[in-house]
Amino acid sequence: MINDLWYKNAILYCLHVGSFMDTSGDGTGDFRGLMRRLDYLQGLGVTAIWLMPFQPSPMRDDGYDIADYYNVDPRYGTLGDFVEFTHACDQRGLRVLIDLVVNHTSDQHPWFKSARSSPDSPYRNWYVWSKSKPKDASSGVVFPGVQKSTWNYDEKAREYYFHRFYEFQPDLNTSNPEVQAEILKIMGFWMQLGVSGFRMDAVPFVIATKGPTVRKPVEQYDMLRTFAEFISWRKGSAIVLAEANVLPNTDMEYFGSEGERLQMMFNFQVNQHLFYALATTDTHPLIASLHSTSRRPATAQWGQFLRNHDELDLGRLTSQQRQACFAAFAPEKDMQLYHRGIRRRLAPMLHGDRRRLEMAYSLMLSLPGTPVIRYGDEIGMGDDLTLPERNALRTPMQWSRDPQGGFTTNPHPKNPVITGGTYGFEHINVADQRRDPNSLMNWMERMIRTRKETPEIGWGNFTIIRTPHRDVLILRYTWQDNAVLLIHNFSPDPIDLRLRSSAKPTSNRAGKRPAKQQPDLYLTNILSNDHSTADSSGRHLILLEPYGYRWFRVGSQEDRGPTLDA
Ligand code: GLC
Repeated sequence: MINDLWYKNAILYCLHVGSFMDTSGDGTGDFRGLMRRLDYLQGLGVTAIWLMPFQPSPMRDDGYDIADYYNVDPRYGTLGDFVEFTHACDQRGLRVLIDLVVNHTSDQHPWFKSARSSPDSPYRNWYVWSKSKPKDASSGVVFPGVQKSTWNYDEKAREYYFHRFYEFQPDLNTSNPEVQAEILKIMGFWMQLGVSGFRMDAVPFVIATKGPTVRKPVEQYDMLRTFAEFISWRKGSAIVLAEANVLPNTDMEYFGSEGERLQMMFNFQVNQHLFYALATTDTHPLIASLHSTSRRPATAQWGQFLRNHDELDLGRLTSQQRQACFAAFAPEKDMQLYHRGIRRRLAPMLHGDRRRLEMAYSLMLSLPGTPVIRYGDEIGMGDDLTLPERNALRTPMQWSRDPQGGFTTNPHPKNPVITGGTYGFEHINVADQRRDPNSLMNWMERMIRTRKETPEIGWGNFTIIRTPHRDVLILRYTWQDNAVLLIHNFSPDPIDLRLRSSAKPTSNRAGKRPAKQQPDLYLTNILSNDHSTADSSGRHLILLEPYGYRWFRVGSQEDRGPTLDA
């Protein structure tokens, strides 16, 4: 499969058009508003945008309940506006990924309406039915505490239908070839309108066998190959970025041994252990998760993130580890969700502590993969716990000190803007931070630039440098005879780090050609002028401040010779 691999070293920014910028004054963000903010995004330095669902929807799950796959919800604009938007992105060299939600539809989708109306409907077999209530109807719910079952009785159909998520999201029968063909058609449609790929929702459920007799769902991995082939035939550089919170021993099944299935997956494994490390300062489980997810085909890439639009899912941690995270970041019951997660944004979780926020973002930018930033995190936005479930962390972008944070002229935005207090728009907004050279936003912009100038991370291979300090993580990347060393101190205490220079020739990616010299004796600080020279016994002494971080290039900056893009 041919792909220019742009995603291997991209900076992804995810946003919901309805929460970004409203120009119509109806209190909901729209594509015209988003277009006005593209220069802001380009200035921040991101290279790709992931849009959450914007298709027509009854909006009972923030758009993840789609009622028409081939249109734009009128609240956000028109298909014409969408094409103007992808064109404007193209002009600025920004790629666009959109959410592809095909595990289920809304119960208001015409397909479901037809399917339930008669057993003879051509769409009946597009959904998953059972004449009697399956025994395991109350197991496998995704939203425990809110969702009661996975099978509901439909009065019209006089049968039970399967829904992995909320009851208003009937599952599509994705094993049905007609449904599979429709999924390809949906992809083709949006690619024709200018998108470079899809963030595919709930992938393990999309490819699972479904039905009343299915006790243990089986993953039909080959479906992923069909998707990959189709999109690459249509557009060589198109990708699927999968939401698949799976165990590391199945990663290669998802990527495909030759990279023939998925180009990207979010690294949920690293994400959860990273928060454990932030909560406890113990980096060893994080290191284990980096090792367990290190295997992937050369063309595949991880999406590395801190927070997204959902709860911070800690379901893969041990219950003890999870409790440690709850104690640190969500001590009140109301901050927790679905018995496994935290419904908060990053800044309030880290008590707005600038040192910790910088360390966390520096870490995210230095993890093996492509960083994914959530809108508003670049200015340290907060959450609104008075809103139900995950809506707490989906409040509108805070642009300025104008009423409603400059998001809308409507005094009653659909989602309330955070007002007053530490995280209110009066204190946290883009306009103020733009003018302040020391703001989090300007720091983030500089870090994004630094990340782009450090291609070793996206392209290279990493090793973990061992240290006796459990609270320090040292990542070393090598690529094309260059190496970088990225150091993070998770502890609130300063640390005297002694690093022995290996002073051995490093090797290139294929492990064949030895490097030009023995460069570890000199470390160039990429972020400041505080460089490090090894002492006569070959040791670097690095004084890390509380939550300190360092980005070093091994050898001198000038050693980084010209490189070729893939
Ligand atoms: C994914 C989305 C989530 C949504 C669910 C159902 O997990 O991230 O927001 O509720 O799928 O579509």
